[in-house]
Amino acid sequence: MKTVAVIGAGNVGKVLGYALKKRGYRIVGAFSRTEKSRQLAAQLLECPVFSEPEKAVCDADIVFLTTPDRVINETCNRIAEEKGFRKGQVVIHTSGAHSSDILASARQQGAAAISFHPLQTFPELEMGLRSLPGTFFAVEGDEEAFPVAKEMIQALEGQMLSIPTEMKVVYHAAACVACNYLASLMDMALKMFNLMDIPPKKAFESLSPLIYSTLKNIGELGPEKALTGPVARGDISTISAHLEAMKELAPELLPLYRQLGVYTVDLAVRKGTLNQEQENQLKTLLGG
Ligand SMILES: NC(=O)c1ccc[n+]([C@@H]2O[C@H](COP(=O)([O-])OP(=O)(O)OC[C@H]3O[C@@H](n4cnc5c(N)ncnc54)[C@H](OP(=O)(O)O)[C@@H]3O)[C@@H](O)[C@H]2O)c1
Repeated sequence: MKTVAVIGAGNVGKVLGYALKKRGYRIVGAFSRTEKSRQLAAQLLECPVFSEPEKAVCDADIVFLTTPDRVINETCNRIAEEKGFRKGQVVIHTSGAHSSDILASARQQGAAAISFHPLQTFPELEMGLRSLPGTFFAVEGDEEAFPVAKEMIQALEGQMLSIPTEMKVVYHAAACVACNYLASLMDMALKMFNLMDIPPKKAFESLSPLIYSTLKNIGELGPEKALTGPVARGDISTISAHLEAMKELAPELLPLYRQLGVYTVDLAVRKGTLNQEQENQLKTLLGG
C-alpha cells in the first residue's frame, strides 16, 4: 500500500487525496494554511493535518504539492530545508503552467520529481470526484517516477499524457485556448445575441445544440472537415455584411471577429474549399 502526503489540501488536494484513499492508497499526512481548511481535510482524508508542511511528509512515498502555483517552489524549498525529502520518494505538483523543474530542491535530496496536471477543472469536491474518470493527466519529469504516476492514473480511471518538459508552457497555453478562450468566444456570441435583447441564459440554450454538435464533429472529423459556414463556402458578401453590421452595433468585438475570420480562412484553405482568389479576397476583407 503506497503512502501519500497532501501538501495543500484545497480543491485538487482534497479530490486527489480522497479519490486515492478510496482506491487503496494510505494518506499519512496533510497540510493546509488555515484552521478551517485543516479541519475539513482531517475529516475527509482521515489523517493528521499540520500547519507546517514539513511535518506531513516524513512517512509518505508520494508527496503532492497542491498549493497555489505561486507558492509551490517556496513550499518545496521549505520542506527541503527541513530535510523532508529522501531517495525513493516521488514529489509531485499539479500545476499546468510550471514544469517539474520548480521541484529542484526535492531532486537535490534524492527524490524523483514530476508534474502531474489533470486536464480538468475542480471547483469543489463532489464535482471534482465525478469528473475524475476519463480525465487526462499530463505528466513530465523524472522517468523513474512514471510507473508511480501510471499506477495512480489507473487507480483514478484517468489516462496519461506524457509531454516533454521544455514544452510544458506551450501545453498550458493550448489548454488555456481550449478552456478559457472558449469561454471568451461564448461570451462574445452571447453579447451579440444580447443586441437582440435575448438574455444570456436563453442565448446559450439556443446556441447549445449548435455548440455541442460542432464539438462532436470536431472530435469525429477534425477541425478542417468539421468547418462549415460562410468562410468555408467563400461567401464573401455574407462576411462583408457581418462586418458592416458589427461596425455599427458591436465595434468593440470587430477586431476579434476579424482575427478569427483570418484564422478560419486558413482552415478553409486546408479543407480545400477556397480557391486562391477567394482566399485573397477574404483575407483582404477580414484583415481590414
Ligand atoms: N482547481 C482546479 O481546477 C485545478 C485544475 C488543474 C490543476 N490545478 C492546480 O492544482 C494546484 C492547486 O490548485 P487548487 O485549485 O486546488 O488550489 P486551492 O483550492 O486554492 O488550494 C490551495 C491549497 O494550498 C493552501 N495555500 C494557499 N495559499 C498558500 C500559501 N501562501 N502557502 C502555502 N499554502 C497555501 C491552501 O490552504 P487554505 O485552504 O487553508 O487556504 C490549500 O490547502 C495548483 O497548482 C493549480 O494550478 C487546479
